[in-house]
Amino acid sequence: MSARAAPTILGIGAALPEQLITNAALAERLDTSDEWIVRRTGIRERRHLLAGETLADLAAIACSSALADAGSQAADVDHVIVATITPDRLTPGLAPALAARIGAERAGVVDINAACAGFLYGLDQAAALIESGRARNVLVCAAEALSRITDHEDRGTAVLFGDGAAAVLVGPGGRERALGSFVFGYDNSVEDTLYAEREERKLRMSGQAVYRHAVARMTEAAEQVLQRNGVTASELDYFVAHQANARIVSAVAEALGVPLEKVSFNVEWTANTSAASIPLALAAAERDGKLEPGALIGMVAFGAGFVWAAGLARWKDNLTPPTRRS
Ligand code: ACO
Repeated sequence: MSARAAPTILGIGAALPEQLITNAALAERLDTSDEWIVRRTGIRERRHLLAGETLADLAAIACSSALADAGSQAADVDHVIVATITPDRLTPGLAPALAARIGAERAGVVDINAACAGFLYGLDQAAALIESGRARNVLVCAAEALSRITDHEDRGTAVLFGDGAAAVLVGPGGRERALGSFVFGYDNSVEDTLYAEREERKLRMSGQAVYRHAVARMTEAAEQVLQRNGVTASELDYFVAHQANARIVSAVAEALGVPLEKVSFNVEWTANTSAASIPLALAAAERDGKLEPGALIGMVAFGAGFVWAAGLARWKDNLTPPTRRS
């Protein structure tokens, strides 16, 4: 029986705003220091959109570059799935504006809000659409402008968040389970530890509670994924946990037994970009020569809700490149 080619990541693109905000710049106006921020979070800098800039424009750069990387055209995109909690407008969502900008004229367009876990939800939905035969090319974009819901006077949160966008094109071509085996979970009993109210529009959180839950839940979810796939942590070529804080990432990696040299600490350069953090980390890892085609990647995310997700991907596991198709 010839199985339908499994969904895989075919291309990736990323975009960060021009405006750079260093720890030193924050220390000029807040009671904080570069030393404190680096020691407690691992963050050195973050990017913020300027007042007149749109997240849709930033996301469009990431998507166009993902399509170019995959050698695909916007006209071939069947669906644009955007993970975000910070669309430019309350409604419409970001996906229609983004699809129009890149010229994905015949695509279905939808936003999903699963906070920091949104990108993994998007990947799972893309994989399901392709596996079922309902779609062939699905663009999964994660884009956030957290600077627009940050209390810039609160040193406890102002140092933590940044803006950014990244996207992957998912299409058929991979080996079985090149993308998938996701696990998802939530615990709404503690939603008041991390939220933004509709009126105030500022992220509020109990840092230490979030920290504890993030480590525990991401570790459990990643363990479940490994177990379900009969894979050990030592077989992972690369590991990306949601880039909230370098200490959280280290704690999860250590609990799982993943050596730190295989772990992304991209948070250093982006701060916490919620849904965008995992694809931004993947793009940075590929740029830095840490991801070869076929590499086995573990991914795990955790955010407001609480909502979490974990999954595995074979990096650009394209066994049937378009040039070789008859
Ligand atoms: N600069 C200097 N001092 C600060 C700063 C700052 N930017 N922020 C807080 N402090 C002070 C506090 O006021 C406190 O002072 P006090 O002892 O005089 O009261 C002291 O530092 C210690 O504060 P804690 O909150 O105990 O510090 P902690 O070591 O827990 O680190 C942090 C705080 C970095 C927020 C940590 O709890 C954390 O990272 N939590 C996870 C939160 C997170 O990542 N949220 C992102 C959203 S969720 C997600 O994406 C998963």
